[in-house]
Amino acid sequence: MKVLEVKDYHEMSSIASRIIIEKVKSKPDCKLGLATGGTPIGLYKELIQDYRKNGTSYDHVCTYNLDEYVGMDPEDPNSYRYFMEKNLFAHINVPESHIHIPDGTAEFLEAECERYDVELNRGEGVDIQILGIGSNGHIGFNEPGTSFSSHTHIVKLAETTRKANARFFQRLEEVPTHAITMGIASILKAKQILLLVSGIKKAEVMKRLLTTNEIDEQLPASALKKHQNVTILADENALSLVKKAHLKYK
Ligand code: F6R
Repeated sequence: MKVLEVKDYHEMSSIASRIIIEKVKSKPDCKLGLATGGTPIGLYKELIQDYRKNGTSYDHVCTYNLDEYVGMDPEDPNSYRYFMEKNLFAHINVPESHIHIPDGTAEFLEAECERYDVELNRGEGVDIQILGIGSNGHIGFNEPGTSFSSHTHIVKLAETTRKANARFFQRLEEVPTHAITMGIASILKAKQILLLVSGIKKAEVMKRLLTTNEIDEQLPASALKKHQNVTILADENALSLVKKAHLKYK
C-alpha cells in the first residue's frame, strides 16, 4: 500500500480527481468502482467541474457502486442510487445503461447479489475502485468479521455504522438495518484501489491500519494489504495519530 499524505479534504479530492480523469482519458471505456458517503463528494464535485470545463467524456465509462441499502427505493433521497444521481451522474454524460448499483428493493435478495457479481465479473475487472473507510474499518459495508473471500452479499449494519450514517436521515430509526454490498473478494479484484480518508474521526482506524501488520477479518480494510496496487490518499487529520517513522506500509 502506498500512503500519500495530503493537506486536507480539498487536496485529497483534487488529487483523486486527477487520477480518475487521467484514467478516463487514457482508457475511455474504463470501469470505475464508486463509493457513497461524505468522503467522495469533493472528488465528484471536481469531476463535474472538469466535465463542464474540459468536456472529459464518460460516454463509454461503466460505473459499479459498492453498496445499497436493503428496502430503499432508488427514488428515495436516502438511497445510494439517488445519492449518485444527485452528486455525480446527473451532471456528467455517463449513459444510464452503464450505471450499476445493487437493487435494494429486489424481491429475491440472494439472486440480486448473484446478478450483481455476474455484472461485476463481465469482461475485464474494475480499473479503479474508490473506497472510503468506516471508523470501525469497514470498506463497502463489509463490517468487522466479514470473510475476506466474500462476494456481493447482504449485511446487517453495525450500530456504529447506522449511527454514523444517521446524519443523512431525519432520525436514527430511519437508517436501514441491512445493505447489499460488494464483498471483500469482489473489491480486491479491482486492478487499482484508491482509499480516500479525511478527518480526525478516521485517525484511530488509520493508526490501527498503518502501524500494525494486522491482516484480520476484524479489520476489513486490512485486506487491502493483500492487494498489489493500493493508494491511500489521507489528510493530515486522518494521519494525525500515525508517526511517520511508524508507518509499516509505504
Ligand atoms: C459507501 C461505503 C462506506 C463508506 C464509509 C465511510 O459506499 O461503502 O464504506 O465509504 O462508511 O463513509 P464516509 O465517507 O461518510 O465517512
